[in-house]
Amino acid sequence: MVLHDVNPKVGRLIDSLKGKDMVKVLFVCLGNICRSPAAEGVLQAIVNEHHAAERWVVDSAGTGNYHIGSLPDPRMRAHARRRGLELTHHCRQVSVSDFDEFDMIVPMDSSNEYNLRELAPSVEAEKKIVAMSAFFSLATRYDYVPDPYYEGAEGFELVLDLLDDACLNLYDTVTAAVWGTK
Ligand code: 4NP
Repeated sequence: MVLHDVNPKVGRLIDSLKGKDMVKVLFVCLGNICRSPAAEGVLQAIVNEHHAAERWVVDSAGTGNYHIGSLPDPRMRAHARRRGLELTHHCRQVSVSDFDEFDMIVPMDSSNEYNLRELAPSVEAEKKIVAMSAFFSLATRYDYVPDPYYEGAEGFELVLDLLDDACLNLYDTVTAAVWGTK
């Protein structure tokens, strides 16, 4: 779904990408072992299905440094695998240079967003931050991607449901705005 009612700041960020050959997206959560590597896997799968790999760079990172080098949490990998996704990202911490490298920096919740705003090296860099919830379909009851780390299976399934919705909307909205195609 192309989001026409995406908030004005997000609309301006996406409009600023017009004319680019490639869009680079970095998903960010706290640990980089549950939500953001799953978001990376979900968006990359959508990109691959659309044969659009030459137009996208998709990566993820964490604001924390607890799990650097690790594969995603085994529970996240198991739930993703049931949906046909193999998550192979190795955890890394977000850094100031990511604000140069990426066009869109997408936090999963407001705490991740706050930490990214603190890290942003300039006002221009800060404009690259756009909450994942900006891409939720309006019908959802959530306005962030809840941390599943201390939750059970339902928490992981909820994360994947929210990410499926948001990544499809992100893909469609960016594709339509930047390249005028689907
Ligand atoms: P994530 O989940 O931010 O979605 O990767 C978490 C993973 C690990 C921790 C917290 C959240 N932790 O405290 O180790």
